[in-house]
Amino acid sequence: MIKLRIDNKSIEVAENTTILQAANSIGIDIPTLCYLQGKKPCTSCFVCVVKVQGIDNFVPACATVAKDGMVVDTQSDDVLKARKGALELLLSDHLGDCYEPCKIACPFGLDISAMLTHIENKNDDKAIKVMKNAMPMPAIVSLLCPRPCESICRRKQFDTSIPIASIKIQLAQNDLAKEKPYTPAPAQNIGKNIAIIGAGPAGLTAAYLMTIAGCNCTVFDKNNKPGGTLNDTKIDKELLTAETMEILEACHEVHLSQELGVDFTLEQLSKDYNAVILATGENKIEQANLQYSKTGIAIDTQTHKTSIDKVYSIGSAVKPAKSAVLAMGKVKKSCSDIISHLKGDKIDNPKLFNCRIGKLNEQHIEAIKAIMPARPNNEKDNILESAKLCLHCDCLKKEQCGLKKYSQQYDANFQSFQCDKPALEKIECEIDGRHVIYESGKCIKCGKCITINPNLTFINRGYNSTLSPAIGMDWPEALSVKTDEIINNCPTAALSFQD
Ligand code: SF4
Ligand code: SF4
Ligand code: SF4
Ligand code: FES
Repeated sequence: MIKLRIDNKSIEVAENTTILQAANSIGIDIPTLCYLQGKKPCTSCFVCVVKVQGIDNFVPACATVAKDGMVVDTQSDDVLKARKGALELLLSDHLGDCYEPCKIACPFGLDISAMLTHIENKNDDKAIKVMKNAMPMPAIVSLLCPRPCESICRRKQFDTSIPIASIKIQLAQNDLAKEKPYTPAPAQNIGKNIAIIGAGPAGLTAAYLMTIAGCNCTVFDKNNKPGGTLNDTKIDKELLTAETMEILEACHEVHLSQELGVDFTLEQLSKDYNAVILATGENKIEQANLQYSKTGIAIDTQTHKTSIDKVYSIGSAVKPAKSAVLAMGKVKKSCSDIISHLKGDKIDNPKLFNCRIGKLNEQHIEAIKAIMPARPNNEKDNILESAKLCLHCDCLKKEQCGLKKYSQQYDANFQSFQCDKPALEKIECEIDGRHVIYESGKCIKCGKCITINPNLTFINRGYNSTLSPAIGMDWPEALSVKTDEIINNCPTAALSFQD
């Protein structure tokens, strides 16, 4: 047996055990991208590096055999920095968007690509679910939104953007016309009674999202009808009523014509409720102990708590926004923070890792043109035909991708090393009734698929090295061997199924 120390823990392992295996056996997690259990290590990724006392260089844990008396460090700042550097090198010539640009631009983070896929599959009910799970009042929001999603839509680089807002308005109206429009099912009740003061854009957004999150919401408004500043816009008032009523009907209680300071006080509410949310827009509230900043009510930016115990503030009451929809998008994030705070959870908002293709070069434009769906003649007002034009810029494996997961964990920057972006090459074939895709720009040349399937090989060297079928074979033939195994083990979306 071999005795060694890993991160100050003593451990005894059998001969020929690697540092990776030894560390894993005592619950120490070391990232790996090219390691394939039971196979000879190919040490191509270097994200598993550790430091061994007495050795100057970092060593790959997957390929270094534990020795008697070894002292290994897997978590020091130096080691973490080296792993981050290895990830940034892998990202330097990586070509892909983890998330679609339109989703990133949407104030509510709506998964537009998924919504359009459901429409393409003629499953509008699922599309409505995706939309209404992400945002309140979709028709009103889409009518008022400055449409940053359409401004950034990649299709615009070829002809015109996908009419995302019009598609959402149509979906929302179709849903409202049903006997029972879709309402997201609330999560398990978290036992929190919330008073929301204000039934304008911010208050309605909070009521919608906090009800879905399992809170009992009671809404107060000084006016005799809900909607606040939305009533001052030119939008169809019937539509506004229909979408606001959907929200208020799901609330615990609604009290209209009830004014703060006249009909009730914050002290009263904070005794009766677990939290009181001020969503009063830019109106100044005369209330002792409520502190103001230069822009509006002063809050703790993490918890959204005001200077009064149990009282929180959101939306334009804190800081005016350029548009009602942008304010509502910010309220979504504020509500999620307030709920975490009420539940005693850590408020954690890590920056989401999102590798981006960015500006397309000429080769990319030509490659996309060759495969993009053609515009039909009857696209106008036809959501199915419009949805079919989407390029689905998001990544097929964004939920499983190891490169993305570790890049997020190690705060890797995909732009740290600048190098020419590879060609945009996409191979698609049908294998056993499944649609298989190989995207060369997402391959990190880890070599796992080659280890599993000898019909695949690398050609060229260094940065120019690419995956290829073995000599004399075409892609469908090469990929038809152990297809599931190569796709499941590929650490990125270079190899994926499109279902
Ligand atoms: S392969 Fe991974 S890192 Fe690359 S775009 Fe897809 S999810 Fe992002
Ligand atoms: S083409 Fe589709 S996925 Fe890409 S940005 Fe436009 S709407 Fe979004
Ligand atoms: S395609 Fe093969 S070599 Fe490329 S990342 Fe996937 S498993 Fe690794
Ligand atoms: S070098 Fe060890 S997992 Fe890649």
